[in-house]
Amino acid sequence: MLRVVIFSALIAAAASMTDDDGWLNPQYRRNLIVEVGAAAYSHQTVACDPKAVGSVAACFSQSIPAVGNVDFPWGSPQIAYPTDGSPWGVHLTGPYPDGRTYLLSWYTGAATVGANLTKPNTSALKTVAVLTKGGTSYRFSGSVITYLRTYSDPALANYQYLSPYIHHVLLTGLTPRTTYRYQLAGRDGRLAGGYSFTTLPLTTNVYPLRIGLIADVGQTVNSSATRDHLAANRPQVVLHVGDNSYSDNYNAGNPNLTDGKGTNQNRWDSHAQLWQSLFSAVPVLNCAGNHELEMSGISAFINSTTSSFSFPSNYPFQSYAARFPAPGTPAASLGAITPALYYSTVIAGAVTLITLNNYIPFQPGSPQHSWALAEFAKVDRAKTPWLFVQFHAPPYHTYFVHYKEMECFMSVWEDVFYNYGVDLVLSGHVHAYERTHPLYKYRPDSCGPVYLTIGDGGNVEGPYRNFVDELNPATNKTYCESLNYGGVGPVAMSSSAPTAWGPAYQRMSHPPGCPTLSFQPPSGVAGGLPLLLLNNTSASSNTSSATSTPNTPPLGFCQSSQPVWSAYRDPSFGHAILDLLSPSTARFRWFKNLEGNAVARDDVVLERLDSCTNRGGPQAGSGSSSISGGRRARMMA
Ligand SMILES: *[C@@H]1O[C@H](CO)[C@@H](O)[C@H](O)[C@H]1NC(C)=O
Ligand SMILES: *[C@@H]1O[C@H](CO)[C@@H](O)[C@H](O)[C@H]1NC(C)=O
Ligand SMILES: *[C@@H]1O[C@H](CO)[C@@H](O)[C@H](O)[C@H]1NC(C)=O
Ligand SMILES: *[C@@H]1O[C@H](CO)[C@@H](O)[C@H](O)[C@H]1NC(C)=O
Ligand SMILES: *[C@@H]1O[C@H](CO)[C@@H](O)[C@H](O)[C@H]1NC(C)=O
Ligand SMILES: *[C@@H]1O[C@H](CO)[C@@H](O)[C@H](O)[C@H]1NC(C)=O
Ligand SMILES: *[C@@H]1O[C@H](CO)[C@@H](O)[C@H](O)[C@H]1NC(C)=O
Ligand SMILES: *[C@@H]1O[C@H](CO)[C@@H](O)[C@H](O)[C@H]1NC(C)=O
Ligand SMILES: *[C@@H]1O[C@H](CO)[C@@H](O)[C@H](O)[C@H]1NC(C)=O
Ligand SMILES: [Fe+2]
Repeated sequence: MLRVVIFSALIAAAASMTDDDGWLNPQYRRNLIVEVGAAAYSHQTVACDPKAVGSVAACFSQSIPAVGNVDFPWGSPQIAYPTDGSPWGVHLTGPYPDGRTYLLSWYTGAATVGANLTKPNTSALKTVAVLTKGGTSYRFSGSVITYLRTYSDPALANYQYLSPYIHHVLLTGLTPRTTYRYQLAGRDGRLAGGYSFTTLPLTTNVYPLRIGLIADVGQTVNSSATRDHLAANRPQVVLHVGDNSYSDNYNAGNPNLTDGKGTNQNRWDSHAQLWQSLFSAVPVLNCAGNHELEMSGISAFINSTTSSFSFPSNYPFQSYAARFPAPGTPAASLGAITPALYYSTVIAGAVTLITLNNYIPFQPGSPQHSWALAEFAKVDRAKTPWLFVQFHAPPYHTYFVHYKEMECFMSVWEDVFYNYGVDLVLSGHVHAYERTHPLYKYRPDSCGPVYLTIGDGGNVEGPYRNFVDELNPATNKTYCESLNYGGVGPVAMSSSAPTAWGPAYQRMSHPPGCPTLSFQPPSGVAGGLPLLLLNNTSASSNTSSATSTPNTPPLGFCQSSQPVWSAYRDPSFGHAILDLLSPSTARFRWFKNLEGNAVARDDVVLERLDSCTNRGGPQAGSGSSSISGGRRARMMA
């Protein structure tokens, strides 16, 4: 019955789709917004806003560029850097696991692009950062590195890239919750700059603790809007869940040409300059995304048995690793690739953050898997009550682009997250916002993690616009029905090639035979018929003919409306703020770029329960009922 109503509404929409305002009227949209149960468990869908992307047509075509969503042209003041040897691109990484160490990184000079370049020997060079607190100065020395990107593609032989000097200085033994002013050495050793940053608290006076969340930021005008809105919310630390510069969208020889041939490494430099104002003032915990896995022009692949790269020595991730060493990396290894790929650290003595990499092997027996299991086992919830995991590609989201890319990954990791009582799983990759309710295996479960997709930092590829359960007016079918890889949809692929779903850069790290497709029983919030999209009809017909379970529900690749596990979804650029208020209570808010910081579009209080047997650590449940503003959702403990 509901389906009939929905189709009538669509006919009305088609008849009156003459201007944006008429189209925006909710009665002309398929109604995906359904409230069920307590407000905390509501489900909200915000449709693509034609005003944000430029037109109704752009809302229904990812290939129409979103209006205004362009990278700053090469040389514009927002991204230009000095070439006279003075410091630029300053950024802080941290905290390291001890809570008193941070890494300070910056650049001097300019990059060189040409043929047959050689790396200078910088091993004898020293650099310094001088911090001051009160009247006292603290001098820290560090090292200078460069990296050289060469290409195996002979057409790119003239576009080798030798980086500017990259200065890395470890700041050790800092006092928690303390503001330091600092200056940095230029090429000639002279100190310059009037920067400052504040260390995080450590174990005492931790709450409230404000964490900023962004991903897929890029270097457009929208990126700078995200940056400035996030800065205005004054986070104490920022988690950036991958896809930093989008250099790999550019031609190796032209930083204005986005043909993707060979990657333009100069765009890493401009990105550093664009984000300096925030990242020199607030420490960042970064994460490698697929745009850090720069493979264009270098015949690189990852051997899923050995976890090693083929050409010639670990080129993918090289730029990222040189520029954003992971917290915990010792001075002697700064710039090395291996320690940058995954890491664990502790924020303010209260949060263990485990950063995984879904683009390198993760199966049992892989180095990453062994390392991560040991890290999970080490977590003492009595000391660090909060446990977050971040990795780039989101396992739970309902957008058309990148739908269900992580089924193989989750076949390995979901039980680990559940058993260790992970509170939040953070991802980017999908250029849009979505928050889930706590869940486990596609079912709401208050002992499972909340999954957050925050890949809406503003990059040049534009916001994603459509949900799998949304009707595409160009075809009158749901987006789900046009999902395919190489022309093969999920149902056909589940019998012909069940390991082949997803982009090659994701499957490259999969172990042989890893399942990439899954189908679920009906769980859309809007009900209606059919409940499912892309039924695995072979599964349902075989099941029902298997005599004993004639009433087993069919399974679908998508739900026909927002799934019960999805809480809030909005295909807009923005950032999120997570305020940890106590060992058991957090307030999460998402801010939309187009609306500024005056109002948080999504605003929810998350409370860790003490009743989950899968969870260790301290008993939560202390009085948090005084929290106001925001709906309350029960989480976990
Ligand atoms: C990107 O920024 C431009 C310029 O401010 C604005 O017109 C556009 O709506 C923004 N796009 C999104 C998706 O926020
Ligand atoms: C890039 O584009 C800008 C703006 O059009 C132009 O001023 C600049 O010279 C271009 N730079 C290169 C290297 O092409
Ligand atoms: C780079 O080196 C190769 C091999 O030595 C040589 O053939 C080529 O001419 C050189 N290219 C330039 C631009 O110097
Ligand atoms: C680099 O320079 C240092 C000292 O200046 C020297 O000990 C080292 O051998 C040099 N390395 C290379 C590869 O030339
Ligand atoms: C991966 O490495 C293993 C062990 O060295 C080797 O046997 C295998 O052939 C490699 N796979 C590929 C595709 O090169
Ligand atoms: C979609 O359905 C509407 C209403 O029935 C119809 O007017 C329109 O032509 C259809 N569009 C396509 C592409 O089939
Ligand atoms: C898919 O499943 C729904 C039940 O959710 C059923 O009504 C519909 O007929 C099925 N479609 C196909 C093609 O089997
Ligand atoms: C049912 O299952 C069998 C084997 O499990 C398979 O060969 C067949 O294609 C399936 N589907 C149908 C519709 O019979
Ligand atoms: C779809 O159904 C077939 C037949 O039952 C089954 O073999 C296949 O595993 C199912 N696909 C998935 C991914 O569940
Ligand atoms: Fe991505």
